[in-house]
Amino acid sequence: MASVGNSIGQAAIWLQKGYPVAIPTETVYGLAANACDLDALIRVFEAKKRPLFDPLIVHLPSVTTIARYAKDIPPLAFALWERYSPGPLTLVLRKSTLLPDLVSSGLPTAGFRIPAHPMALDLLNSVDFPLAAPSANLFGRVSPTTATHVVDQLGDAIPYVLDGGPCIVGLESTILDLSGPEPILLREGGIPSQHIEDDLKITLQRPHHAYRVHEETAPSAGTLDNHYATTVPLICYRNNEELELLLRKESLWEAGQRTLPNARFPSNEPTLGMLRFQSDIPNKFLEVWDETKFGIRRIVEILSPTGDMKEAARNLFAAMRALERVSPLILAEMAPDHGLGTAINDRLQRASFKGDQP
Ligand code: TXA
Ligand code: MG
Repeated sequence: MASVGNSIGQAAIWLQKGYPVAIPTETVYGLAANACDLDALIRVFEAKKRPLFDPLIVHLPSVTTIARYAKDIPPLAFALWERYSPGPLTLVLRKSTLLPDLVSSGLPTAGFRIPAHPMALDLLNSVDFPLAAPSANLFGRVSPTTATHVVDQLGDAIPYVLDGGPCIVGLESTILDLSGPEPILLREGGIPSQHIEDDLKITLQRPHHAYRVHEETAPSAGTLDNHYATTVPLICYRNNEELELLLRKESLWEAGQRTLPNARFPSNEPTLGMLRFQSDIPNKFLEVWDETKFGIRRIVEILSPTGDMKEAARNLFAAMRALERVSPLILAEMAPDHGLGTAINDRLQRASFKGDQP
């Protein structure tokens, strides 16, 4: 079982020995390993049950160190680092021969990031190799934003979790591919892409499936369907009209009513989980709920009572995890579609249930 602590020295020792260690970053917890040690990298893929075709992000403490592991770095990269680093931004660049092919799943490029969490930076400065770190969750599942989340999924597979408290951003980094002629947005994240475009006066390509743009670009798993999935079906809706349509579905209530002999759920009471952006469902729906659907408990997670997008982003993954533990079905309200709301909605849609709707 992993031990949890706040010793940078302890974390560094495990990393030097070739073992993966979970580390805090400002976005989500990462499962870090020496990016130049093949055995250590294999252990990361194994612990996460992650397919080898999904490339890892390489974390370094400074632009100077990145310049050793990347090549042909375009001027735009320096401008972006100047503005946003350290921080929740990953740049895909051509990689130098110092990085093994396994890190990038055989691609000629790698993702590079300078994380802003002080403990991550301390650790990066105390070892003499880059840290490859995917999010510290099982492949396809919701990313961890506390040390406890990591232990829940990977506790048996890794020796040490460096506890740096809850992550303050709560969403993964924004990923830009700068390895081709035009900058491409591969993943919305902690820095809204719209802000980047406004700040730097650039236009990002936003192909629907970014990875199909040029052949040698990786399938960015964060852009695959069914990524960030909850363990129970999650259905998103945009507004009260869509909520009303959902609430009128008899099959939805049947799903909520399903007896839950499953040990995962603490109570056998019929339950529906509601993920809400700012407030509980409107009064008129509360009445419907109480009058006609009597007997189904509603468990509500509100992301930000004041409607603050940063707070909502910070709480998103913890709320998804909390609801999947208590309800066989989650109805999730989408955030306003601007700023960080775009990244929140991206995660909700990718997490959402793709099979036949209940
Ligand atoms: O905030 C974050 O980025 C966190 C923290 C730990 O730094 N890390 C993270 O890693 O979210 P991960 O592995 O869960 O997601 C990284 C994404 C994957 O979807 C991967 O496919 C994409 O980055 N990626 C990595 N290298 C790439 C490359 N060379 N080309 C295209 N996509 C790449
Ligand atoms: Mg991930």
